[in-house]
Amino acid sequence: MFLANQDYLKLPGSYLFSTVAKKTKAYTDAHPEAAIIRLGIGDVTQPLPPAVIDALHRAVDEMSRAETFRGYAPDLGYSFLREAIAENDFAARGCQVSADEIFVSDGAKGDSANIQEIFDHDSRIAVCDPVYPVYVDSNVMAGRTGTYDPATGIWSNVIYMPCTADNHFAPEIPSEQPDLIYLCFPNNPTGATITRDQMQEWVDYANRIGAVILYDAAYEAYITEDNVPHSIYECEGARTCAIEMRSFSKNAGFTGLRLGYVVIPKELKDRKGQALHPLWARRHGTKYNGAPYIVQRAGEAVYSEAGKTQVREMVGKYMENARFILDSLKSFGYEASGGVNSPYVWLRAPGNMTSWEFFDHLLEKANVVGTPGSGFGPSGEHYFRLTAFGTYENSVEAMERIRKL
Ligand code: MLT
Repeated sequence: MFLANQDYLKLPGSYLFSTVAKKTKAYTDAHPEAAIIRLGIGDVTQPLPPAVIDALHRAVDEMSRAETFRGYAPDLGYSFLREAIAENDFAARGCQVSADEIFVSDGAKGDSANIQEIFDHDSRIAVCDPVYPVYVDSNVMAGRTGTYDPATGIWSNVIYMPCTADNHFAPEIPSEQPDLIYLCFPNNPTGATITRDQMQEWVDYANRIGAVILYDAAYEAYITEDNVPHSIYECEGARTCAIEMRSFSKNAGFTGLRLGYVVIPKELKDRKGQALHPLWARRHGTKYNGAPYIVQRAGEAVYSEAGKTQVREMVGKYMENARFILDSLKSFGYEASGGVNSPYVWLRAPGNMTSWEFFDHLLEKANVVGTPGSGFGPSGEHYFRLTAFGTYENSVEAMERIRKL
């Protein structure tokens, strides 16, 4: 694929967060004394919840005894985890999702990159702009996105749905007709959300035109407002138009453990009437050997009573950071949003700086690393993302340094 598909070569030399890491490393190599605060990639900093650690220890002990040793995991996931997910993430919210519609994986990044494989090559994609770069990049790699205009940062065959301050960073129904619609709420990178009624409009639209929504709910645990849906299956009709992707990384601190899942309802079909559940099962079984047993037991522990309480506390701490960052930036006169139902705060670079100019400015003058908004798409230009996944102390120190700029 790599050699055959020249579209790879039209992508930036590295993935956005790798570019940020490389630039940061170049700076720290040249300035080893700099006390860098990293609020760029959304990587968690709190240790795993005790209930998860206990489950890991227990599972490792099982692996050390012949009677309880496990080899290959079932490729679609152990039923103890799929049942816990169905009960806690869906039934508890009144959503109809059964355990055998859940495909356990090693995280939402891979799932959101790979899911396009089960769709026709000529499928037209619609994305929010700015957007988590994996959605577009993976479609570029599949040769589906047309030609690239470096002046505008636009791929000719992608439908961009601008999310700007004017529409409160919520996409509008596009005038061109897509086959696949990528939506992510709470949004990465803007931290914006849509209400249940707005989500229902997307579901109705997708069902009307026969499109499939690829819904990334990696940040649902950060929702604090009642009218914001946690799952697309809270909307009527979503089972005939939506795939949902979830992650344990942000919800439970698993960025280093790796665990996620995809939901594909059995009645969901593509435009040609092809059922998607068996297609993804076939793809998953061929290309994936299952998340490790010990990690799936750790995932199960997230849904224990102790696990739920501990995870809520963990999320609560990150949300304290988010509130602090948002309030501080606003009080310094920045245009800033997100941070209410999301661990991401989205701000406008001051003085009409470009996103990358502000990245350099912040790195050099405040030793704070963030993520340039333009890396997420053309409408992200002049914007910047800060994550609340750092420690509280570092969030406070970062804001103090930004105040002094
Ligand atoms: C983010 O910071 O947006 C993501 O966590 C990075 C990634 O998963 O690629």
